[in-house]
Amino acid sequence: MAKIGDIDVGDFPLLLAPMEDVSDPPFRALCKEQGADVVYTEFISSEGLIRDAAKSTMKLDIYEKERPVGIQIFGAVMESMLKSVEIVEASGPDIIDINFGCPVKKVVSKGAGAGILKDIDLMVKLTEAMVKHTKLPVTVKTRLGWDHDSIRIVEVAERLQDVGCAAISIHGRTRAQMYKGDANWHPIAEVKNNPRMHIPVFGNGDVNTPERAVEMRDQYGLDGAMIGRASIGYPWFFKEVKHYMATGEKCKPPTLEERIEAARRHLQMSIDWKGEKLGVFETRRHYTNYFRGIPHFKEYRMKLVTSDHSEDVFAAMDLIEREFAGYEFT
Ligand SMILES: Cc1cc2nc3c(=O)[nH]c(=O)nc-3n(C[C@H](O)[C@H](O)[C@H](O)COP(=O)(O)O)c2cc1C
Repeated sequence: MAKIGDIDVGDFPLLLAPMEDVSDPPFRALCKEQGADVVYTEFISSEGLIRDAAKSTMKLDIYEKERPVGIQIFGAVMESMLKSVEIVEASGPDIIDINFGCPVKKVVSKGAGAGILKDIDLMVKLTEAMVKHTKLPVTVKTRLGWDHDSIRIVEVAERLQDVGCAAISIHGRTRAQMYKGDANWHPIAEVKNNPRMHIPVFGNGDVNTPERAVEMRDQYGLDGAMIGRASIGYPWFFKEVKHYMATGEKCKPPTLEERIEAARRHLQMSIDWKGEKLGVFETRRHYTNYFRGIPHFKEYRMKLVTSDHSEDVFAAMDLIEREFAGYEFT
């Protein structure tokens, strides 16, 4: 049974990965309904938070039904990170997560995200100070290292644990790899196999089939799987993995009606949460996967992703429901 601080997250929990413009409250709620055990917000800038930037503070919203939820922050300046811990705490998450893995230039160039992998002492110092600054469990999400020649994740994880980090999620790529190549889970297993490690070690990167999740559990011996891209537009992935882990059998994919219903609710929740314009815009990236597999879908997909008004998107969904009624997904 894995525990993050005092929070019981079950046997081999499935975690929804933090994903910018994806892991928002509506999507997190859908993933939770389909079996995600822990969900994380997208990363939030500590500098934005302390300046009360509206874009950053809005990301702190959480729904009761999605708990346990972790709010992820990034930054490299001690004072800003500690002040953000206070701001984040006030919005009542269950977990505070530190992003030490984001590879994008504008983050890394400030020494934040994966940039911190060039200064492990600072990484440890920031984590220690944040742990001391809150009663909430603090978790870390990071990568294997800066590049192939500097993979010291076993030592890094142990040092983070020793300063009070409550769990660690490791993406099996280096910063230099960005998203290229295959994720390498071997170093993550080495972290887990370190006899001194006692906090949960969650694996991340390319868990894109139920079989891969089982492999992470049985062959790599990790404590849980963090799932990102496979869930975009497909919150059922969590349920499918759970079913497969429990029975060794694949469950039936969701029907067209279930997909339409989820897409409608997703869009409506997004509009309720962030308004018509952004709600319509940011739900677009999910539609390809919601309806993946339907032949000759391009024309319908275009309606979904080019309409600026929700009534047109809802109308497109009605049309899809009529036109493809009874379509059997495999
Ligand atoms: C669109 C997108 C946005 C992401 N945003 C974040 C983020 O805000 N914080 C973070 O720690 N990782 C972020 N990531 C990385 C994912 O959390 C995850 O580590 C990565 O996608 C590998 O897992 P996967 O193969 O299951 O997708 C993002 C990934 C994607 C695809």
